[in-house]
Amino acid sequence: MSHATPHQPSGTTPAHATHPHRHDPGHAAGDQADFLDLEATVLAEDTAAVIAWLPLKTAPRHIVDLGCGTGAGTLALLERFPSAEVTAVDTSAAHLDRLRQKAAAAGAAGRVRLVHADLDATPWPGLGTPDLVWASASLHHMADQGSALRTVYALLAPGGLFAVVEPAGSPRFLPPDAPETAPGLEERCHATVAHHHAAHVPHRGADWGAPLTGAGFTIDDERRRTIDVGPDRSDAVGPYALLSLRRMRGSAAAALSAEDLTALDRLLDTGGPHSILRHPGLSVRTERTAWAARRP
Ligand SMILES: C[S@@+](CC[C@H](N)C(=O)[O-])C[C@H]1O[C@@H](n2cnc3c(N)ncnc32)[C@H](O)[C@@H]1O
Repeated sequence: MSHATPHQPSGTTPAHATHPHRHDPGHAAGDQADFLDLEATVLAEDTAAVIAWLPLKTAPRHIVDLGCGTGAGTLALLERFPSAEVTAVDTSAAHLDRLRQKAAAAGAAGRVRLVHADLDATPWPGLGTPDLVWASASLHHMADQGSALRTVYALLAPGGLFAVVEPAGSPRFLPPDAPETAPGLEERCHATVAHHHAAHVPHRGADWGAPLTGAGFTIDDERRRTIDVGPDRSDAVGPYALLSLRRMRGSAAAALSAEDLTALDRLLDTGGPHSILRHPGLSVRTERTAWAARRP
């Protein structure tokens, strides 16, 4: 990795490594990194399609990935644009470390610069003058999104593009009438954690069109996609659903009825006949919207 320093906070920006998941308490960094890796695999086709859809005038040379996580966007961008370098920024040292390993395995270590920084702190570390900035599922984590959008605007080269990708919310894995002993269980689980998301990530699933325009961007295009990926299309679907439901249990258990908790535990019992891994209706169903916002 040419300039990678994932264990060092960038510039004067305070490190956030001791609180990497303050919006998602109770989950270890490794668990979160595994989750992001599985999600990246399940959504890889859609991520590649979003990148192919971007209304770029020329192939970008310098890309910044804001809140890069374990590299879902960074690696797809490196693959799509073989002449580009990516500056990948995240507050989690564990995520950056995972990304460093993956970039090395892909033979792309020399084209990635890892920046360990908290983007809620000002000023942002030096990120150069990118011609493409990518932010997937990360903007809603920023404490002051308006300020983040204005900073991206100032950062971008004139004519450069800001690609924002936003998931509609948490994916669903089971048909609405499943499981047999507790139909609708998944929605009841989500209802128990809705207040947590509303309090901690109120902008998750937000429409970024107006805020982007307010920050000076011109919206070149917008793309909304419904995603439905079954186990036949990705081996990661089962493990991703399992890890998601395990995390859900941690947050929802206290508020669930005894019947629901029993049904949830049967889904989580990977050796049992009702395991989510073998559920006949299993698929990852979600929606993602992307905005292509240009700095005029
Ligand atoms: C839901 S993950 C998305 C990761 C990746 N973009 C993807 O699509 O898989 C959000 C990421 O934003 C990072 N993040 C959250 N708040 C941040 C902040 N203030 N500064 C930098 N990164 C932040 C988290 O550590 C996490 O890796």
